[in-house]
Amino acid sequence: LNYLGIVKRLICDSKALNYFCQKFNNMKDIIILNIKELIQVEDSPRLMVKGAEMAELTTIKNAFLHISNGLIASFGSMEIFGGKFNSRQLDNSKIIDATGKMVFPSFCDSHTHLVYPASREIEYVDKIKGLSYEEIAKRGGGILNSARRLQDISEEELTCSAFERLKEIISFGTGAVEIKSGYGLTTESELKMLRVIRKLKEISPLTIKATFLGAHAVPLEYRFRQTEYVDLIINEMIPMVASEELADYIDVFCDRGFFTVEDTDRILNAGMKYGLRPKIHANELDYSGGIQVGVKYNALSVDHLEYTGDAEIEALKDSETMPTILPGAAFFLNMPYAPARKMIEAGLPVAMASDFNPGSSPSGNMQLVLSMASILYRMTPEEGINATTINSAYAMDLSREMGSIAVGKIANVFITKPIPSYQYMPYYYGSNKVDTAILNGVVECVN
Ligand code: NIG
Ligand code: FE
Repeated sequence: LNYLGIVKRLICDSKALNYFCQKFNNMKDIIILNIKELIQVEDSPRLMVKGAEMAELTTIKNAFLHISNGLIASFGSMEIFGGKFNSRQLDNSKIIDATGKMVFPSFCDSHTHLVYPASREIEYVDKIKGLSYEEIAKRGGGILNSARRLQDISEEELTCSAFERLKEIISFGTGAVEIKSGYGLTTESELKMLRVIRKLKEISPLTIKATFLGAHAVPLEYRFRQTEYVDLIINEMIPMVASEELADYIDVFCDRGFFTVEDTDRILNAGMKYGLRPKIHANELDYSGGIQVGVKYNALSVDHLEYTGDAEIEALKDSETMPTILPGAAFFLNMPYAPARKMIEAGLPVAMASDFNPGSSPSGNMQLVLSMASILYRMTPEEGINATTINSAYAMDLSREMGSIAVGKIANVFITKPIPSYQYMPYYYGSNKVDTAILNGVVECVN
């Protein structure tokens, strides 16, 4: 370790230390009182909501919420609050008065690339001047640009910069996040990224899932030997990732100009042998067959979906795969929007995530995603809230633990600033409406 490395490590460790001290002090029960409206309560929790159910959102006006041992212990109307707690319980709890404010389950962000070496605003300017995402990629920009820069950056530096992004998304109301590798593209660097994600799991209060995305782009040195790169992923990367237990899921960018259906089939098949369930990038640039191959391997989710037609919708029906739209990427790249309404009308569920990454979506703000659900995809506020909480929790296999307000679920919730209605959340776009973020029953952030 060089000197800079030691200093950066100390900064990171002191953040971790701070976090544990704060957690220790905070381990009391929390009772939130006088909540103007408690959003998305469930008496019989579901794993996801689909079709017409997506328009339903159960709430309790003038409510309380009791959090104990990091879990949701009880909730209900203030009318029944009086008889529920004795004075000793009240004295031993942290009481938060939420008059005028609402409480939501935390957002679940099921698709990000938030471990990355550097921002890419130069390409953004090229895009404004007319270059497409694919043209930038062909010139060795895009993902390959990030991959070049990632080779000589230390795990400590990557951890520290990603930790700052995690703090930012906590302040915007996120409670769980999936993070992908995919800027390494060599065995060593892919493992480095996944070790960084493992470290983040240890030091952050967020619930984090790790996805191995060796098949994000074909490195330049494999340009006309794509099959050999796929062989490397299958024969070397996947076994090493699995032996260190570094990933929960496996991903492939199955699209025009990136990986073919055949490549995807081989990689997912190899991943399956190690118990890695797929969550894949599909149909962003074309009708690539990605959705169908994802469903074939029982992917937990297929993500992007700008090019989704009748055949793709048919493939998704009766599957266990969550169609996941990434509004930030379509908005930022000026792409066609995925047919969310058509999918919901066909009875499918829809989840939404941020795709937080330096190339196609430099924002992890799930409140903005919620606004885009309505503005760009004509989803109602109820549908948008379901897409960014319970359904995106499903897309990380976390909907038993979070994604709604239900007894026994992890207490990942946020208290809003005073707002007139829950519809105001997508409507008043562009500013942070979160006042207090609570994760695992601990107040993590007060804005
Ligand atoms: O989800 N589509 C592929 N991958 C990312 C972009 C990553 C990048 O450009 O750095 C995405 O949009
Ligand atoms: Fe992505």
